[in-house]
Amino acid sequence: MDLIQLTHGGSRPKAPKPENVELHFSEKAVLELERLVTHYPDKKSAMLPALWIAQREYGGYLPADALAEVALRLERSYAEVEGVATFYSMYHPHHAVGKHLIEVCTCLSCYVCGAYRIADYLKEKLRVDWMGTTEDGLFTLEEVECLDACDRAPVLQIGDQYYGPVTERDVDALIDKLRTAAEPTTIKLADEIVQAQLHKSDQERIS
Ligand code: FES
Repeated sequence: MDLIQLTHGGSRPKAPKPENVELHFSEKAVLELERLVTHYPDKKSAMLPALWIAQREYGGYLPADALAEVALRLERSYAEVEGVATFYSMYHPHHAVGKHLIEVCTCLSCYVCGAYRIADYLKEKLRVDWMGTTEDGLFTLEEVECLDACDRAPVLQIGDQYYGPVTERDVDALIDKLRTAAEPTTIKLADEIVQAQLHKSDQERIS
């Protein structure tokens, strides 16, 4: 009997010892976190935005060092931070992602409208499988649940943008455009979420 694979494989990295954690947050990131923490009753409550800051600072994903740094800065355990980061699918704990993460929705509406045809086209074009990253480090392909844009099925999410309904021709145009994009969409998305969170927190404080 085959075991059902519930994860994408790969072993869990060992948690770095607190005394071995090297801090990588930039000065800007430290200030952002300090500002965010003041909007919550305790440091722990700022964990979600802290993880977004870390995802931006560590190049679009959350290696063990990033989780350890968040744990250290929020005075929580590594296990607790890892538990949160692995629960939400928009965080990318442990595995690096490319400059652009292409998320393909394969839920019902997208499935019916050809999501797997588009996924197969992308796999062949980029020569990667699900969770694979192209050799040049530009693209990672991921299968995701409903993106809540079913009226535009089949839908792709890349960074902060939804694209749909997409055809193979749209995929070609998108990939060409992304190849020349200067800014990694994975990092841009993380930064936008951090900035939105800071703005929202400031607004709440004013009102
Ligand atoms: S099923 Fe794809 S966006 Fe809802």
